[in-house]
Amino acid sequence: MEDNRIAIVTEAGNGLGKSFANILYRHKYNVIIAASSESFAIMNQDRVLSQKFKLINVDLKSVEELSELKSYVDSKYGHLDVLVNNAEIANGFGQKIDQIILDDVKELYEINFFSVLKMIQLFKPLLEKSQLPRIINITSAMGSISKMEDNNFCYTDYCMTAYATSKAALDMYTHLQRKEFKTSKIKINNFDPILPQNCSYNSVKLCGSVEDQFLSLIYGEKEWGL
Ligand SMILES: NC(=O)c1ccc[n+]([C@@H]2O[C@H](COP(=O)([O-])OP(=O)(O)OC[C@H]3O[C@@H](n4cnc5c(N)ncnc54)[C@H](OP(=O)(O)O)[C@@H]3O)[C@@H](O)[C@H]2O)c1
Repeated sequence: MEDNRIAIVTEAGNGLGKSFANILYRHKYNVIIAASSESFAIMNQDRVLSQKFKLINVDLKSVEELSELKSYVDSKYGHLDVLVNNAEIANGFGQKIDQIILDDVKELYEINFFSVLKMIQLFKPLLEKSQLPRIINITSAMGSISKMEDNNFCYTDYCMTAYATSKAALDMYTHLQRKEFKTSKIKINNFDPILPQNCSYNSVKLCGSVEDQFLSLIYGEKEWGL
């Protein structure tokens, strides 16, 4: 693997994306964090973060800003090694059908699902120029019907309809996209960063073997997730 390893993590604030960025940083990747305006401002004020990572202000809803991000990576590096689609919206707890606000659902899908498709469409040509191209779509077991039917699973009673269905869609998309990439160097996987035994609402720490599993998606041949 060349020294000039490039990774993009879609993330802002202090969530798990920062943990993924730190792992990649420790493994000698140049990490670009694509963060939206408010969180971008918070991270940009953090000197440690802004020295470690290249922070780029990107609203994932903006086709123009995504194109600018691609142009930046293309002109500066000419390739991309790792794309971590991590950004999320999680709205609507305990929603019943009469409570669902469709515009909220659409907004969530715009980030949790459509922006992932856009990122992959946009960066596929640059990933194809990498020696070890990887796409990791961060998902949640809340999108898994079998998990949600398991009474031992801590989120089984949660009904975050928009969030859970968007992650189910993301999982199926990842599965189907893998078929197209079968003959290419690009490996695509989904990844749930929370271990079931550590499951608690809004964990923002990666526990136990999670880091090793994440790294195995980059370096190993084993495919996790689906
Ligand atoms: N935390 C958990 O317990 C857990 C469990 C299982 C899976 N996951 C998955 O892990 C990933 C990270 O979760 P997290 O809890 O760390 O999330 P988080 O703290 O909510 O971070 C997600 C970030 O996405 C950003 N985002 C939203 N809309 C955006 C836009 N239009 N453009 C650019 N960025 C945007 C948000 O930025 P703003 O702050 O600016 O809105 C937010 O900071 C997610 O995919 C989630 O589904 C999390």
